[in-house]
Amino acid sequence: MKEQAVQAEIGLIGLGVMGANLTLNIAEKGFPIAVYNRTWETTEKFIANAGPLASRIIACRSMADLAEAIHPPRPVIIMVKAGDAVDEQISGLCKVLKPDDIIIDAGNANYHDTVRRDAALAGTGIAFIGMGVSGGEEGARHGPSIMVGGLEQSYHRVEKVLTAIAAKYKKQPCCAWMGTDGAGHFVKTMHNGIEYADMQMIAEIYGLMRDGLGMKAPEMAKVFARWNEGKLNSYLIEITAKVLATVDGKTKKPLVDVIVDRAGQKGTGKWSVIEAQHLGIPATTLEAAVAARVLSSMKDERSRAEKIFGASRRKLTPKSRGAFLKQLESALYAGKIAAYAQGFAVMEQASAEKGWNLPLGTIASIWREGCIIRSQFLDLITSSFKKSRGKGNLLMAGDFAAMMKANQAALRRTVADAALNGAPVPALSAALSYFDSYRRARGTANLIQGQRDFFGAHTFERIGEPGSHRGAWIS
Ligand code: 6PG
Repeated sequence: MKEQAVQAEIGLIGLGVMGANLTLNIAEKGFPIAVYNRTWETTEKFIANAGPLASRIIACRSMADLAEAIHPPRPVIIMVKAGDAVDEQISGLCKVLKPDDIIIDAGNANYHDTVRRDAALAGTGIAFIGMGVSGGEEGARHGPSIMVGGLEQSYHRVEKVLTAIAAKYKKQPCCAWMGTDGAGHFVKTMHNGIEYADMQMIAEIYGLMRDGLGMKAPEMAKVFARWNEGKLNSYLIEITAKVLATVDGKTKKPLVDVIVDRAGQKGTGKWSVIEAQHLGIPATTLEAAVAARVLSSMKDERSRAEKIFGASRRKLTPKSRGAFLKQLESALYAGKIAAYAQGFAVMEQASAEKGWNLPLGTIASIWREGCIIRSQFLDLITSSFKKSRGKGNLLMAGDFAAMMKANQAALRRTVADAALNGAPVPALSAALSYFDSYRRARGTANLIQGQRDFFGAHTFERIGEPGSHRGAWIS
């Protein structure tokens, strides 16, 4: 161990899929790295499979060995399951690290935990970074999008490694400092909320094609592949085409057709909408996407309900299938605009309330590559922020207002078609209702105010008169 003691520039704990790939990425970029995993067999296996990169990886049997193997001041990345395991690793590290060292939690932490951990470490002299990493296995290995929270000077101390391993969009690293303490994990949480919305809306469109038009998976794969060449160009559309085109080795059927329609979730989507609610920002499309996953998991209950109510799978019979598919493409685009408007509005509010000063334009720019929601669309958001926007809803930005105007009719027709045919499109219809509510100068809350005042003397504002008023309601 001694001879290796000054070799590593950085350390990493947790050689699961993400940690292992991140390690290989770091080593490949020329940074010697020390690694530690709870089970030594995993470490051994990892080193055995690391190929020539193994020469830049120092395998450690304990946290003490890990600390010794890194050149001080030591940055150590923790890549373990979010929750208690992170606290355990932090308390272990605190015993072997020294002031000025940096602990970096790169898992999908709840940002409240990050704020707590940051505060707890503040007195120790050990710096803390809460870092959102997006891009899955492939991203971790070849370039993720990285959202960093913590003190700015702590970020600058690890910036070289992080920007080297991050994805690049036109040579620009998709890595940036988001703000203090929980800012990085908060932004990652919102990324995931938007990811849920994107995925759900795609699934709803797939449902209309499959159940409404009776299209088969290979046909749909072609449509999504074509859409990926146009305005919907994105990683999620690209992989949707691939998922639909894949054949099951066992049954020779499209693989998607043999997968149970029950979606998993690890919590980040849910956190994004909880935070939206706390901040008082409507994120209805994101909420609908989270709720749809929950409903998907209630498979047995849904099956029982279908027996009572019927399957609601009436066919859609458009005059022209080509024109209808174009309508679906535009509907998805309009839904996307609403979902991103909601996600960015939540971040803007969080930025103000938590004093983070989140760089919204930079966030859009580092989501253009590496992360799961990467898309051409995010380049448009980046340009929009660059041109004019500092604040305000994305729907109000000139270019986005124009795009919404051009695509909203398709969203409206699609939601109407779906409703008439009994096909659920919760996220798309939430997007449409959000848009319709947002652009309506006189809504219906006057009646709600009347009801509140009637039963609870909550008072209301009168049009053109200052102050609060009570109504002389008839009984
Ligand atoms: C990413 C992803 C990733 C997330 C998976 C699974 O940005 O790389 O968001 O962090 O863990 O997408 O999330 P769910 O299990 O909640 O779908």
